[in-house]
Amino acid sequence: MSDAPILFFDSGVGGLSIVAPARALLPTARFVYAADAAGFPYGTKSEAEIAARVPALLGRLAERYRPRLIVIACNTASTIALPAVRAALDLPIVGTVPAVKRAAELSVTRTIGVLGTDATVRQAYVADLAARFAADCTVLRHGSAALVELAEAKLRGAAADPAAYRAVLAGLFDQPGGDSIDVVVNACTHFPLVADELAAAAPRAVRFVDGGAGIARRIAALTEGQDWPDRAASGTAVFTRLGAAERALAPALAAYGFDAIEGL
Ligand code: DGL
Repeated sequence: MSDAPILFFDSGVGGLSIVAPARALLPTARFVYAADAAGFPYGTKSEAEIAARVPALLGRLAERYRPRLIVIACNTASTIALPAVRAALDLPIVGTVPAVKRAAELSVTRTIGVLGTDATVRQAYVADLAARFAADCTVLRHGSAALVELAEAKLRGAAADPAAYRAVLAGLFDQPGGDSIDVVVNACTHFPLVADELAAAAPRAVRFVDGGAGIARRIAALTEGQDWPDRAASGTAVFTRLGAAERALAPALAAYGFDAIEGL
Protein backbone atom coordinates (compact mmCIF):
# COMPACT_ATOMS: atom_id res chain seq x y z
CA MET A 1 0.00 0.00 0.00
CA SER A 2 2.84 2.43 0.75
CA ASP A 3 3.53 2.62 -2.98
CA ALA A 4 0.00 3.63 -4.02
CA PRO A 5 0.23 7.22 -5.28
CA ILE A 6 -1.91 10.30 -4.93
CA LEU A 7 -3.04 11.31 -8.40
CA PHE A 8 -3.35 15.02 -9.19
CA PHE A 9 -5.43 15.91 -12.22
CA ASP A 10 -5.77 19.12 -14.24
CA SER A 11 -6.17 20.14 -17.87
CA GLY A 12 -2.59 21.46 -17.85
CA VAL A 13 0.08 22.56 -15.38
CA GLY A 14 -2.30 24.38 -12.99
CA GLY A 15 -2.49 21.48 -10.57
CA LEU A 16 1.18 22.03 -9.71
CA SER A 17 -0.05 24.88 -7.48
CA ILE A 18 -1.76 22.18 -5.39
CA VAL A 19 1.15 19.73 -5.64
CA ALA A 20 3.53 22.20 -3.94
CA PRO A 21 1.66 22.61 -0.63
CA ALA A 22 0.72 18.89 -0.64
CA ARG A 23 4.39 17.94 -1.04
CA ALA A 24 5.28 20.14 1.95
CA LEU A 25 2.89 18.14 4.15
CA LEU A 26 3.64 14.69 2.66
CA PRO A 27 7.36 14.73 1.81
CA THR A 28 7.76 11.06 0.85
CA ALA A 29 4.34 10.38 -0.70
CA ARG A 30 4.33 9.08 -4.27
CA PHE A 31 2.63 11.56 -6.59
CA VAL A 32 1.40 11.10 -10.15
CA TYR A 33 0.55 14.27 -12.08
CA ALA A 34 -1.98 13.88 -14.89
CA ALA A 35 -2.62 16.66 -17.42
CA ASP A 36 -5.33 16.41 -20.07
CA ALA A 37 -3.29 18.10 -22.78
CA ALA A 38 -5.60 16.68 -25.47
CA GLY A 39 -8.58 18.36 -23.79
CA PHE A 40 -6.85 21.61 -22.79
CA PRO A 41 -8.17 24.23 -22.20
CA TYR A 42 -11.21 23.37 -20.13
CA GLY A 43 -12.24 26.94 -19.39
CA THR A 44 -13.62 27.61 -22.87
CA LYS A 45 -15.53 24.29 -23.08
CA SER A 46 -19.20 23.67 -22.36
CA GLU A 47 -20.45 22.05 -19.19
CA ALA A 48 -21.57 19.05 -21.27
CA GLU A 49 -18.12 18.55 -22.79
CA ILE A 50 -16.38 18.65 -19.40
CA ALA A 51 -18.99 16.46 -17.72
CA ALA A 52 -18.60 13.86 -20.49
CA ARG A 53 -14.80 13.93 -20.52
CA VAL A 54 -13.54 14.12 -16.95
CA PRO A 55 -15.17 11.11 -15.21
CA ALA A 56 -14.22 8.74 -18.04
CA LEU A 57 -10.65 10.00 -18.14
CA LEU A 58 -10.22 9.73 -14.38
CA GLY A 59 -11.55 6.18 -14.62
CA ARG A 60 -8.78 5.29 -17.09
CA LEU A 61 -6.16 7.00 -14.94
CA ALA A 62 -7.36 5.22 -11.80
CA GLU A 63 -7.09 1.85 -13.56
CA ARG A 64 -3.59 2.56 -14.76
CA TYR A 65 -2.07 4.09 -11.61
CA ARG A 66 -4.23 2.60 -8.82
CA PRO A 67 -4.10 5.78 -6.70
CA ARG A 68 -5.18 5.80 -3.07
CA LEU A 69 -6.76 9.22 -3.61
CA ILE A 70 -7.45 11.54 -6.53
CA VAL A 71 -7.16 15.32 -6.35
CA ILE A 72 -9.08 17.16 -9.06
CA ALA A 73 -6.63 20.07 -9.03
CA CYS A 74 -8.79 22.11 -11.37
CA ASN A 75 -11.62 24.45 -10.42
CA THR A 76 -13.36 24.09 -13.78
CA ALA A 77 -13.53 20.29 -13.61
CA SER A 78 -14.41 20.33 -9.89
CA THR A 79 -17.25 22.84 -10.08
CA ILE A 80 -18.80 20.91 -13.01
CA ALA A 81 -17.93 17.23 -12.63
CA LEU A 82 -17.10 16.47 -8.98
CA PRO A 83 -20.39 14.67 -8.11
CA ALA A 84 -20.19 12.55 -11.29
CA VAL A 85 -16.57 11.57 -10.57
CA ARG A 86 -17.42 10.63 -6.99
CA ALA A 87 -20.34 8.52 -8.21
CA ALA A 88 -18.18 6.74 -10.80
CA LEU A 89 -15.08 5.95 -8.72
CA ASP A 90 -14.78 4.04 -5.49
CA LEU A 91 -11.93 6.01 -3.89
CA PRO A 92 -11.62 9.36 -2.10
CA ILE A 93 -11.83 12.34 -4.45
CA VAL A 94 -10.72 15.79 -3.31
CA GLY A 95 -11.99 18.71 -5.39
CA THR A 96 -10.83 22.29 -5.77
CA VAL A 97 -13.37 24.91 -4.85
CA PRO A 98 -12.93 28.70 -5.25
CA ALA A 99 -11.73 30.18 -1.94
CA VAL A 100 -14.66 32.62 -1.63
CA LYS A 101 -15.07 31.89 2.08
CA ARG A 102 -11.46 32.78 2.83
CA ALA A 103 -11.75 35.97 0.77
CA ALA A 104 -14.86 37.02 2.70
CA GLU A 105 -13.01 36.47 5.98
CA LEU A 106 -10.24 38.81 4.82
CA SER A 107 -12.07 41.56 2.92
CA VAL A 108 -12.31 44.92 4.68
CA THR A 109 -14.06 46.74 1.82
CA ARG A 110 -16.55 43.84 1.42
CA THR A 111 -15.86 43.75 -2.31
CA ILE A 112 -14.26 40.55 -3.60
CA GLY A 113 -13.00 39.65 -7.04
CA VAL A 114 -13.24 36.10 -8.38
CA LEU A 115 -10.79 35.38 -11.17
CA GLY A 116 -11.28 32.00 -12.85
CA THR A 117 -11.94 30.45 -16.21
CA ASP A 118 -15.07 31.45 -18.15
CA ALA A 119 -16.59 28.05 -17.37
CA THR A 120 -15.91 28.36 -13.63
CA VAL A 121 -17.11 31.91 -13.04
CA ARG A 122 -20.48 31.22 -14.67
CA GLN A 123 -21.22 28.18 -12.45
CA ALA A 124 -24.13 28.30 -10.02
CA TYR A 125 -21.64 26.69 -7.63
CA VAL A 126 -19.77 30.00 -7.41
CA ALA A 127 -22.98 31.97 -6.86
CA ASP A 128 -23.89 29.51 -4.08
CA LEU A 129 -20.50 30.01 -2.39
CA ALA A 130 -20.99 33.78 -2.59
CA ALA A 131 -24.51 33.51 -1.10
CA ARG A 132 -23.37 31.18 1.70
CA PHE A 133 -20.07 32.72 2.69
CA ALA A 134 -20.00 36.28 1.33
CA ALA A 135 -23.63 37.38 1.57
CA ASP A 136 -22.65 40.86 2.73
CA CYS A 137 -20.03 41.29 -0.01
CA THR A 138 -20.20 42.44 -3.58
CA VAL A 139 -18.66 39.58 -5.57
CA LEU A 140 -17.33 40.57 -9.00
CA ARG A 141 -16.27 37.81 -11.39
CA HIS A 142 -14.03 37.67 -14.41
CA GLY A 143 -13.17 34.70 -16.61
CA SER A 144 -9.84 34.67 -18.42
CA ALA A 145 -8.55 32.09 -20.89
CA ALA A 146 -5.55 34.36 -21.56
CA LEU A 147 -4.29 34.02 -17.99
CA VAL A 148 -4.34 30.23 -18.26
CA GLU A 149 -2.19 30.51 -21.40
CA LEU A 150 0.18 32.95 -19.67
CA ALA A 151 0.73 30.47 -16.83
CA GLU A 152 1.37 27.61 -19.28
CA ALA A 153 3.82 29.82 -21.21
CA LYS A 154 5.67 30.79 -18.03
CA LEU A 155 6.25 27.13 -17.15
CA ARG A 156 7.59 26.58 -20.67
CA GLY A 157 10.14 29.30 -19.94
CA ALA A 158 8.54 32.29 -21.73
CA ALA A 159 9.32 35.79 -20.45
CA ALA A 160 6.44 37.63 -18.76
CA ASP A 161 4.66 40.43 -20.63
CA PRO A 162 3.40 42.85 -17.92
CA ALA A 163 0.89 44.44 -20.34
CA ALA A 164 -0.81 41.08 -20.87
CA TYR A 165 -1.29 40.65 -17.12
CA ARG A 166 -2.57 44.22 -16.76
CA ALA A 167 -5.10 43.56 -19.54
CA VAL A 168 -6.40 40.46 -17.71
CA LEU A 169 -6.79 42.31 -14.42
CA ALA A 170 -8.53 45.24 -16.12
CA GLY A 171 -11.37 42.84 -16.88
CA LEU A 172 -11.95 42.57 -13.14
CA PHE A 173 -10.92 45.94 -11.69
CA ASP A 174 -12.54 48.03 -14.45
CA GLN A 175 -16.00 46.60 -13.74
CA PRO A 176 -18.44 48.92 -11.91
CA GLY A 177 -17.42 48.72 -8.23
CA GLY A 178 -14.08 47.15 -9.11
CA ASP A 179 -12.12 49.99 -7.53
CA SER A 180 -13.30 48.70 -4.11
CA ILE A 181 -11.90 45.17 -4.53
CA ASP A 182 -9.38 44.37 -1.79
CA VAL A 183 -9.21 40.56 -2.09
CA VAL A 184 -9.06 38.49 -5.29
CA VAL A 185 -9.79 34.76 -5.35
CA ASN A 186 -7.53 32.88 -7.73
CA ALA A 187 -10.30 30.49 -8.73
CA CYS A 188 -8.21 28.61 -11.30
CA THR A 189 -5.27 26.50 -10.24
CA HIS A 190 -3.11 27.97 -12.99
CA PHE A 191 -3.24 31.44 -11.46
CA PRO A 192 -1.14 30.96 -8.27
CA LEU A 193 1.67 29.90 -10.64
CA VAL A 194 1.77 33.53 -11.85
CA ALA A 195 1.20 35.12 -8.43
CA ASP A 196 4.21 37.44 -8.72
CA GLU A 197 3.19 38.67 -12.17
CA LEU A 198 -0.40 39.27 -10.98
CA ALA A 199 0.73 41.20 -7.90
CA ALA A 200 3.01 43.36 -10.05
CA ALA A 201 0.23 44.08 -12.55
CA ALA A 202 -2.52 44.86 -10.01
CA PRO A 203 -3.65 48.50 -10.02
CA ARG A 204 -2.94 48.69 -6.27
CA ALA A 205 -1.94 46.38 -3.42
CA VAL A 206 -4.66 43.74 -3.16
CA ARG A 207 -4.56 40.34 -1.55
CA PHE A 208 -4.77 37.20 -3.72
CA VAL A 209 -6.07 34.02 -2.09
CA ASP A 210 -6.42 30.43 -3.31
CA GLY A 211 -7.39 27.05 -1.92
CA GLY A 212 -4.01 25.30 -2.19
CA ALA A 213 -3.07 25.17 1.48
CA GLY A 214 -6.55 24.03 2.54
CA ILE A 215 -6.62 21.29 -0.09
CA ALA A 216 -3.20 20.07 1.05
CA ARG A 217 -4.48 19.85 4.64
CA ARG A 218 -7.52 17.91 3.41
CA ILE A 219 -5.29 15.43 1.55
CA ALA A 220 -3.13 14.98 4.66
CA ALA A 221 -6.21 14.44 6.85
CA LEU A 222 -7.72 11.87 4.48
CA THR A 223 -4.46 9.88 4.34
CA GLU A 224 -3.55 10.21 8.01
CA GLY A 225 -2.07 7.03 9.45
CA GLN A 226 -1.43 5.50 6.01
CA ASP A 227 1.94 4.06 5.00
CA TRP A 228 4.25 5.98 2.71
CA PRO A 229 7.63 5.08 1.20
CA ASP A 230 10.60 5.70 3.51
CA ARG A 231 12.14 8.26 1.21
CA ALA A 232 10.95 10.53 -1.57
CA ALA A 233 11.14 9.04 -5.07
CA SER A 234 10.73 10.80 -8.38
CA GLY A 235 7.14 11.19 -9.55
CA THR A 236 5.58 10.58 -12.95
CA ALA A 237 3.76 13.14 -15.09
CA VAL A 238 1.29 11.69 -17.61
CA PHE A 239 -0.24 13.57 -20.53
CA THR A 240 -3.24 12.61 -22.64
CA ARG A 241 -1.26 13.94 -25.59
CA LEU A 242 2.51 13.93 -25.54
CA GLY A 243 4.20 16.18 -28.08
CA ALA A 244 6.86 18.88 -28.16
CA ALA A 245 4.69 21.36 -26.21
CA GLU A 246 4.35 18.89 -23.34
CA ARG A 247 8.01 17.85 -23.43
CA ALA A 248 8.93 21.55 -23.14
CA LEU A 249 7.44 21.42 -19.64
CA ALA A 250 10.04 18.87 -18.47
CA PRO A 251 12.21 21.34 -16.47
CA ALA A 252 9.17 22.83 -14.70
CA LEU A 253 7.79 19.38 -13.92
CA ALA A 254 11.18 18.25 -12.59
CA ALA A 255 11.21 21.29 -10.27
CA TYR A 256 7.98 19.92 -8.76
CA GLY A 257 9.42 16.41 -8.42
CA PHE A 258 8.16 14.81 -11.66
CA ASP A 259 11.19 13.50 -13.54
CA ALA A 260 9.43 10.90 -15.69
CA ILE A 261 7.01 11.95 -18.45
CA GLU A 262 4.73 9.55 -20.30
CA GLY A 263 1.63 9.51 -22.48
CA LEU A 264 -1.70 7.94 -21.55
N1 DGL B 1 -6.57 24.87 -14.14
C1 DGL B 1 -7.94 24.85 -14.48
C2 DGL B 1 -8.83 25.42 -13.39
O1 DGL B 1 -8.47 25.40 -12.23
C3 DGL B 1 -8.43 25.23 -15.86
C4 DGL B 1 -7.57 25.73 -16.94
C5 DGL B 1 -8.19 25.50 -18.30
O2 DGL B 1 -8.00 24.42 -18.83
O3 DGL B 1 -8.91 26.39 -18.80
O4 DGL B 1 -9.91 25.87 -13.64
